[in-house]
Amino acid sequence: MLDHEENKLIERMRQLIRLLSQHNHAYYVMDQPTISDHEYDQLFHQLTALEEKYPQYVQADTPTQKVGGKALNKFLTVQHVVPMLSLGNVFKQDDLFAFARRVEERLPQQNIQYDVELKLDGLAISLWYEQGVLIKGVTRGDGETGEDITQNVKTIRNLPKVLTAKTPVPALLEVRGEVLMPKSGFEKLNAYHEGLGEKTFANPRNAAAGSLRQLDPKVAASRPLAFYAYGIAQCEPMHDLDSMHESLHWLTTLGFDIAERQFLCESIVEVQEKYEQIQQERENLSVEIDGMVVKVDSLKQQKQLGFLSREPRWATAYKFPAVAALTKVEHIDWQVGRTGALTPVARLQPVAVGGVVVSNVTLHNIGEIQRLDVRVGDTVSVYRTGDVIPKVERVWHDLRIDDLEIITLPTQCPVCDSPVAMPEGEALARCSGGLFCAAQRIEAIRHFVSRKAMDIEGLGDRWVESLLHLELLKDVSDIYQLHLHREQLLKLEKMGEKSVQNLIDAIERSKKITLARFIYALGIRGVGETTARMLAHHFEHLDALRTAQLEELQKVPDVGTITAEWILDFFQAQHNIDVIDKLMTLGLVWDVPVASTTQPFNGQSWVLTGTLSELTREQATQMLQALGARVSGSVSGKTKCVVAGEKAGSKLEKAQKLGIETLSEQAFIQLMQSHGQL
Ligand code: IVH
Repeated sequence: MLDHEENKLIERMRQLIRLLSQHNHAYYVMDQPTISDHEYDQLFHQLTALEEKYPQYVQADTPTQKVGGKALNKFLTVQHVVPMLSLGNVFKQDDLFAFARRVEERLPQQNIQYDVELKLDGLAISLWYEQGVLIKGVTRGDGETGEDITQNVKTIRNLPKVLTAKTPVPALLEVRGEVLMPKSGFEKLNAYHEGLGEKTFANPRNAAAGSLRQLDPKVAASRPLAFYAYGIAQCEPMHDLDSMHESLHWLTTLGFDIAERQFLCESIVEVQEKYEQIQQERENLSVEIDGMVVKVDSLKQQKQLGFLSREPRWATAYKFPAVAALTKVEHIDWQVGRTGALTPVARLQPVAVGGVVVSNVTLHNIGEIQRLDVRVGDTVSVYRTGDVIPKVERVWHDLRIDDLEIITLPTQCPVCDSPVAMPEGEALARCSGGLFCAAQRIEAIRHFVSRKAMDIEGLGDRWVESLLHLELLKDVSDIYQLHLHREQLLKLEKMGEKSVQNLIDAIERSKKITLARFIYALGIRGVGETTARMLAHHFEHLDALRTAQLEELQKVPDVGTITAEWILDFFQAQHNIDVIDKLMTLGLVWDVPVASTTQPFNGQSWVLTGTLSELTREQATQMLQALGARVSGSVSGKTKCVVAGEKAGSKLEKAQKLGIETLSEQAFIQLMQSHGQL
């Protein structure tokens, strides 16, 4: 009789098996994967971990014992003479070094070199050449049998149909490699499909798979596919080759393309260095890769090492860190923002995603919670690409064992208990407490002092919180009276004489501000930096903006009916007017707008290109705008001047061709100094 725990364990294994086989089918048979490779790997690992721990419960149909999916019946099935096996994976340096140790242990006293290749993210195929003529192309299938896709591979442009060689070509040559769709071709293909209103491909890998599976070779021919060779399965008579890198070089002399990077490393430490280098260069490559493949370079050593079950001992895939990871939702909190908006945030069991540990992720709004049907206790996939904020991509409902409570919108603000309202037609719920709500007050102050607003350096989050707590800050105007409370400030933790003075100086400096920044600092809903600049430009004086009617507001580019109403609401709230008046009496001033004709660069169009090293683009833009210039993204006959930083490319070339003035960053800095901007 199985007890409850055992039942749960088996249930979990069965869930994982069901999911994995569903996804295997979707991936191998339908070319429509429903999850990423990383997620698949993680589920697979969860299952293998359970099986290792509880071998007595390994299920008969577990996919951990098979290599891949079955071939479709559409094409003829072909048995591989030399099976197409897969590679073991490593994800981190320790595991790579362990791989090298295993190799070294089997090859004592031998000098080992490693061949490092890109791990191309496409489809493995095998090509047969008889007397130098392409006879057959076969997919990997399940590794033992694949599909005959000869007609389709013949349409791949960079794939040699007849081998070229100075020496006699071998009677039989079987070449292995990857078919993929280069990134540029993939984008064009998807754009084309979108234009026709047809389904687009999720990624270049699926586009390549879908194209190779076309029964009509004309369709395959229209797809931008490419083939890169990475190995030789058979060669008769054997060509004189000693190593991987020699083999690949020989293949290029026969007319094959190989991937755009390949390295020969003297040590495993050097392999690790290449891993870091390739990761940096990944974005700039013409094709998608998901890691690199590390192979013992010597073919003799490869033979000595042989295989362990279905994987070579002489090679491993060194994969890039996952950009998706599975984890559990521990809580869902509601955060109250500056405008009172309630944002649900999922608190997660910390998990590494693409090298960064993620423990919080925004769920945006209640609609998103409902769409995902996410609940506390759920297993979720978290994605992160580049600098992009991590997001919950998927909730694993199939992995839910217990009944979990449905998440609903709170009826009261979690900070001030005021009722929560959800205006019709809006996605966000809001706390109705306004500045009575401490969360809204603190966020309003944070925003006011932030770098792009009043830029009061030194008034960080912790101080704002303490000052609110001490009631030295109730609204933003109190900032300008902090100098009257020097004694109390000095008593605060970590507040020495010097930091208090610095803070007071920073506050004093911030009194002289541009109207645009001040409008932005007010934190009016819908008014970001650009809109604030446009409002300042249009109204020139705060009073004009304060008393503007709806129609006048809507004349400003960027301001639609909704933002116009929000601006109107803001200036109708007595509390806001009181704060602004107080700020004025406390000495806030902005430059009276300079009549535009006195601006020396008035009407000029400037372009910034390349990397600036001393200035940020934002600073350079602001200086130019202050002098009356417009900063544009493209060079044309109307461009007055191009400022070219490091690695300036086509824009600089175009400017030179058109005979437009160009300035180096240094020359630009001097010019700005001469106009009092620096
Ligand atoms: S060598 C014995 N080299 O990775 C297997 N494979 O997980 C030898 N792949 O199915 C494979 N780039 O589709 C090798 N430079 C490369 C590769 C590569 C991508 C793929 C291939 C294979 C899978 C193995």
